[in-house]
Amino acid sequence: MTKIEKIVLSYSGGLDTSIILKWLQETYGCEVVTFTADLGQGEELEPARAHAEMAGVKDIRIVDLREEFVSDFVFPMLRANALYEGQYLLGSSIARPLIAKHLVGMAREVGADAVAHGATGKGNDQIRFELAVNALDPSIKVIAPWRQWNIRSRLQLSEYAEKHRIPVPSDKRGEAPFSIDANLLHTSTEGKSLENPAEVAPDHVYQRTVDPVDAPDTPEIITVGFERGDPVSVNGKAMTPAALLTELNGLGGRHGVGRLDLVENRFIGMKSRGIYETPGGTILLAAHRGIESITLDRAAAHLKDEIMPRYAELIYNGFWFAPEREMLQALIDHSQAFVSGEVTLRLYKGSASVISRASPCSLYSADLVTFEESTIAFDHHDAEGFIRLNGLRLRSWAARNGR
Ligand code: ARG
Repeated sequence: MTKIEKIVLSYSGGLDTSIILKWLQETYGCEVVTFTADLGQGEELEPARAHAEMAGVKDIRIVDLREEFVSDFVFPMLRANALYEGQYLLGSSIARPLIAKHLVGMAREVGADAVAHGATGKGNDQIRFELAVNALDPSIKVIAPWRQWNIRSRLQLSEYAEKHRIPVPSDKRGEAPFSIDANLLHTSTEGKSLENPAEVAPDHVYQRTVDPVDAPDTPEIITVGFERGDPVSVNGKAMTPAALLTELNGLGGRHGVGRLDLVENRFIGMKSRGIYETPGGTILLAAHRGIESITLDRAAAHLKDEIMPRYAELIYNGFWFAPEREMLQALIDHSQAFVSGEVTLRLYKGSASVISRASPCSLYSADLVTFEESTIAFDHHDAEGFIRLNGLRLRSWAARNGR
């Protein structure tokens, strides 16, 4: 085994990373610095400090990354209307490059030669962490204990914890918890009974949205203001990116907006089933498309839609810090110069529907499109020629086919 001098561990304070902390200290016999990021997971972070202290960690770092997460990662992704496989808003995928960036920064600051993470060998997250570290500082080594040790299941993990007197958490029902990843953008739940995609997910997997059936019977009307492609206000009130997403999570959650039960294709090669809750993100996607609908040129909008699946796949597969993602981002950002204005949405029983939109930079012309008389010169005969020429090759083709 290569000699390691000092490790920065991405540490949540939960069971997996507490065991990893112990295992790193024993296996490498070197100092481990813990790094805990507040991404708005809604959990208290002080217990993480207490656990790290108990494990003898001298250098414990807890950093609030909520604003950076939303302004520099979630919002740029939202500008693209990114969805993986048509449905997934990429809540876990987009958090990994941010965590990796800070792991690398901290490793440099404290003079560590390695970083470590608690992602397993079957998932996407290990790829995202490590590709990001590769792109940011190739001199830093990555330690992934789940791929090295001989613990092979969650059961063996609990046994290791008991042996080393590490407290094993359980959910409110006293059962082993699901595999959960939460931040300001989403909560993702995998594992246990969800591993059978033929089985309906139990109600208690949902953490931050009510069942649409139980949502209020009266719809709620909200407005979201945009400037140059980014949301800046809710109901007329200007907010910081993290405050805005937090506000929309509350509103959406109450109306059961943003639930998704999905079987997706992981980069590593297998299919997996997960439950996602993305209340604020779902509202923002609808609202952003709403404001784009009046401010983007048709060809610009369609080009964005063409590259979107590619862009989303890059983020899903862990290529946030790759040149091709940055190139696509430049294209997307350029398109947003006039994407400003206000969108009104109705939240009702699980849906977030755009009901009106307005912009000082609108391309929409009622005078041009109207069924009534118009002041704008539009020669209806032009349409005749337009169709005649577009139909030219269709007429040849049909004649040849003998229709
Ligand atoms: N499948 C999702 C993704 O790859 C979520 C992964 C992390 N979630 C979890 N519950 N462990 O982005």
